[in-house]
Amino acid sequence: MRIRILGAVAAVVAATLPATTLAHGSDHHAGPELPPWQQASDWPDRIVSTFAGDPATTISVNWRTSAGVTGVAAEIALATPDARFDQQARSVAADSETIDLATFNRAGTIIPVTHNEGLPGASYHSVMFDGLQPDTLYAYRVEGAGGNWSEWFQTRTAPLSGPLRFIYLGDAQNGIASHWPRVIRAAFQSAPDARFILHAGDLVNRASRDLEWAQWFRAGGFINGMIPAIPVTGNHEYEQLGLTEADRQRMLSFMWRPQFRLPVEQDLSPDLHETVYEVRYSADLSVFVLNSNEADMTEQARWLDERLTASDARWRVVSMHHPVFSSGRDRDNPRVRDVLLPVLLKHKVDLVLQGHDHTYARGAIGDDEAQVPVANAVAGEGGVTSMFVNSVSGAKQYEFSADGWDDYQPAGVELARRAENTQFFQVIEIDGGTLRYAAYTADGEPYDLFALHKADGGAKRLVPSPQPLPETRTFENSLPYSGTDN
Ligand SMILES: [Fe+2]
Repeated sequence: MRIRILGAVAAVVAATLPATTLAHGSDHHAGPELPPWQQASDWPDRIVSTFAGDPATTISVNWRTSAGVTGVAAEIALATPDARFDQQARSVAADSETIDLATFNRAGTIIPVTHNEGLPGASYHSVMFDGLQPDTLYAYRVEGAGGNWSEWFQTRTAPLSGPLRFIYLGDAQNGIASHWPRVIRAAFQSAPDARFILHAGDLVNRASRDLEWAQWFRAGGFINGMIPAIPVTGNHEYEQLGLTEADRQRMLSFMWRPQFRLPVEQDLSPDLHETVYEVRYSADLSVFVLNSNEADMTEQARWLDERLTASDARWRVVSMHHPVFSSGRDRDNPRVRDVLLPVLLKHKVDLVLQGHDHTYARGAIGDDEAQVPVANAVAGEGGVTSMFVNSVSGAKQYEFSADGWDDYQPAGVELARRAENTQFFQVIEIDGGTLRYAAYTADGEPYDLFALHKADGGAKRLVPSPQPLPETRTFENSLPYSGTDN
């Protein structure tokens, strides 16, 4: 209890002291020694680019400093070959907010945040650079207190159309400091020109635990500054907070919105803002992010139906954390499937990218109109309506459900590829009427490959892997699994 009171006091102190006093958080916080890379300082850190506006003409950037820092800015310039390209930079004032980390204010009640006892607050900053040119390389930097600037990061705006690729990662969540860095870095090595990284929920294990976010940002490092993130909320981005068992409420991490500037869809209720959104990346691709943590998914299903009806993007990808077809043993999400599957199939959503089950599963629902059966396993070509993937990038691994996807036969879905006990990253490439999908293991070797071909206005055709794929990985044929840290 004493620690909790100290935490609240530290938070109040953090909110009232000038920034310079707080430059060295370890001098002030009452908790255990922080790793130096967790402590906020006068220097900008946790820098991540996101999409909050049109990706062809805007770039959003988020960063953090010690508490109480205001009046900072970010600069952007065309990334030309000139050594002093920065002479042509323009400055944009940041939106800044200081938040307590050790306590949460819910309607005037100060609630201690488990795992953050004694932490000082921090300031979160963001800008949205606008008026940019499509498919153009820009350099930007962000400011901390006292004129401390980040390095210049280079990032490219979205093209209006044309080939592109992106990275998709399932749950990081566990072993973020130890086992996840090799995966996001291997993904970057495999697709250094990826246009964005889709994180399909459970980025961390404990929604508001600052240490885990520190680990997440450290693992991505400069990759986060160069390749925008599209984050999806998982169940672990939610946490029960309250003074007593009775008044605990399940809440989105209070760090989510400060650290990720994301699109605000005005036609959705405010609770869903920055967790349900569309990124219309180019004429060729739109990504629809859902928040599958909601008990009632009907509002999102209606929104998705409207957006898909209005969308003329050549390829449409939906991402949510909880899978339509579960692959973890004894798991199922009828709450999500019953409401969303009809919408996904009505619009023949090309790809549904999910997490949650800590296994790998990939399979499709066929297209009867195409009059060719959907390919199962790795043989044959077939008409496909929607392809579904569950994946995991972190260390935690579950057993695959005993009957595979057999229970879902009535929905017409065929499981094509599966794995246990393996960390994955995926690279998805769009090139006109062709979508190429590759799931890689952490050593950079392909594990699952397929392509979809879409004729103009016609049915999609699935083309299985042109090359032999490795044997299915299971707990039986891999090194013993013994849990994870975190
Ligand atoms: Fe998870």
